[in-house]
Amino acid sequence: MVNILEVVHDESLPKENWWGKNCVCQINDFWFLPKFLPSTIRVLNEFKPLPNDVILASFPKTGTTWLKSLVFSIVNRSSKESLVKHNPHDLVPTLEVQVFGTTHQSSSITTHDESHSTRLYSTHIPYQLLGNTFHSSNCRVIYITRNPKDTLVSMWHFTNKWKDADQDGPWHLEEAIEKFCSGVFPGGPYYDHVMGFRKASLEKPKNIFSITYEELMKDTKIHVKRLAEFLGCPFMNDEEVDEIVKNCSFDILSSYEVNKSGDFPSWFQVPYNSFFRQGVVGDHKNYLDAKTIERIDALTRDKFHGAGFMYGI
Ligand code: A3P
Repeated sequence: MVNILEVVHDESLPKENWWGKNCVCQINDFWFLPKFLPSTIRVLNEFKPLPNDVILASFPKTGTTWLKSLVFSIVNRSSKESLVKHNPHDLVPTLEVQVFGTTHQSSSITTHDESHSTRLYSTHIPYQLLGNTFHSSNCRVIYITRNPKDTLVSMWHFTNKWKDADQDGPWHLEEAIEKFCSGVFPGGPYYDHVMGFRKASLEKPKNIFSITYEELMKDTKIHVKRLAEFLGCPFMNDEEVDEIVKNCSFDILSSYEVNKSGDFPSWFQVPYNSFFRQGVVGDHKNYLDAKTIERIDALTRDKFHGAGFMYGI
């Protein structure tokens, strides 16, 4: 077990090739992009959540952008104007990217008592590493997950849109499948990430809310209402809910100039438009052959179903 407080340089950590010239470093069984290692360690050592904080947690490519737009809208109610002007990732900053990713602590993270206001953050850091931080306050956590095959395919597309992907790649799908199955993936292993939050949400349902991309897609309205109740701000009328569901839908959000833009944010090497691709359930069927599907399903049966979580196939 690595002592997080002692990890300052990544040289001492296990390292694996991930894609092209990109490697990932391991802290306590989870893999991270070296670029985000110092900020991840800062989050683990320095982030002190306030009781009213809401943290949106996820494995990459499982619906984080959508969840950000929905929760921002639930908390702020009239959010349309903000969503037209800003990509959801600029409305809800990621702890290890925008918030602790700069040398100086971001102004959005304050330590004085703001207990009356709700601060929204997101993270991809696994529960196994961040759990103690969450429980140091009474903050609320919302975890979204997505079936492994769609997550893998979404990540494969996304990574091939990185700046300099031409020089590093292309990242072949076969290679992405191998890395996903072996767990050597930013934030991975995927199955451990999901199970960490899932178990925590069963143990502490008042503080940790868990939802899947597929549930949200099937009946967005019901789950937006459940989210609002969890956050302690239930809706008074259905029209408000309908408005939020519409404003955060894939078609509406992806039509805004800010989300169609090929510009790169200051905080990551992908254009804003790469956060919106298809936004459907089951797109993996267009990319993975029957043998690969069976291989990932066998893994899912072992890791999820074997632990009583009947999900992901
Ligand atoms: P696809 O690549 O399958 O289309 P994340 O936000 O965690 O990076 O996940 C990205 C995935 O969520 C992408 O999936 C993206 O298209 C999808 N997505 C983004 N906004 C969405 C929305 N408003 N509704 C549904 N899916 C959305």
